[in-house]
Amino acid sequence: MADHLVLLAPSSNRVYAGAADKLVAAELAILLGGSAPVEALQLAGVGYLALDLSELDQPTTAALGRLSAAYALFRRGQGQLLPVPLEVPDRFDDDLVTIPKYPGKTNEQFTRLLVNVTLASLRRAPSGPVTVLDPMCGRGTTLSTALVLGHDAAGVESDLKAVEAYAAFLRTYLRRKRLKHSADMSPVRREGMSLGRRLDVTVTPAGGGRPQSLTVFSGDTRQSAALHGRRRFDAVVVDAPYGIVHRSQATEGRRDRSAAGLLWESVGVWAGQLKGGGALGISWNTLGLTRERLVDLVGQAGLEPLDSEPYRRFGHRVDSSIHRDVLVAVKPSAP
Ligand SMILES: C[S@@+](CC[C@H](N)C(=O)[O-])C[C@H]1O[C@@H](n2cnc3c(N)ncnc32)[C@H](O)[C@@H]1O
Repeated sequence: MADHLVLLAPSSNRVYAGAADKLVAAELAILLGGSAPVEALQLAGVGYLALDLSELDQPTTAALGRLSAAYALFRRGQGQLLPVPLEVPDRFDDDLVTIPKYPGKTNEQFTRLLVNVTLASLRRAPSGPVTVLDPMCGRGTTLSTALVLGHDAAGVESDLKAVEAYAAFLRTYLRRKRLKHSADMSPVRREGMSLGRRLDVTVTPAGGGRPQSLTVFSGDTRQSAALHGRRRFDAVVVDAPYGIVHRSQATEGRRDRSAAGLLWESVGVWAGQLKGGGALGISWNTLGLTRERLVDLVGQAGLEPLDSEPYRRFGHRVDSSIHRDVLVAVKPSAP
């Protein structure tokens, strides 16, 4: 019988329209690397994720602490639920991610799920600080989530106003929280031409430790490799435009509801920015691009799609025009 129960945050079912237990169970199964079966269970009308663990070892504790929607953990014993503290690894307060509110923002819990399943799929242990690139970063939900989880973050965003709004928010937030930091916006010029702007931030968490870095360029994601130069990343994590609030800018003013064309032109660029053994995690609207086509596309870009269970369990309805799914793919390590 399952000996541990995870109570999910009540908000998670609003995010996933009732499918939270299915999605978060898949996330936890991936974080645990298949070491324990995870299943959804109802007790007195309340939903939990049930785990059968021989012992609560360090990797399991770490996985439960970083889970996107864990609210509380219990051990089952003699008809009782005994609370067990969750060891949350966050290096910054979660309001770094939750305070900004704007149309087109990717949900915070979903973003953490996407970052988690991508990083859990790395084939090679990172040699230094983990680096996460979001090449269509909007106003930075993925980037801030990466910082909260203790990683370095980098981004590209075509909407200069979004980059400026993110920079303004970070400056105010880091000052108000009295965190040691620097934050600079500067123009990017190549051969006398203006290519946009870049934001460079370093910040030391309140608890001290390693200063973390964030770099964002304004520009087109298809230029991501040119903008970030030789830098390679452990993970590329991206919530692609749904074609509803955000239009893909790939089609020269024509509305591309699917963003399929943009993904077609970008996945190869992002694959080139990954380190060997690194992972790409994409969420997108399947109503414009089927899972099969995206699997095919990442394969053509030289990545290995992870397309078996539990990776195939992330499809869910967001609204009548968006059915969202997640695809993770890994870059083979050089022999
Ligand atoms: C679904 S939103 C991502 C939102 C982001 N995760 C957030 O929470 O702020 C997709 C983003 O892709 C950007 N985008 C669309 N086409 C782009 C392109 N060709 N190059 C770079 N960014 C692009 C949009 O401006 C939008 O910010």
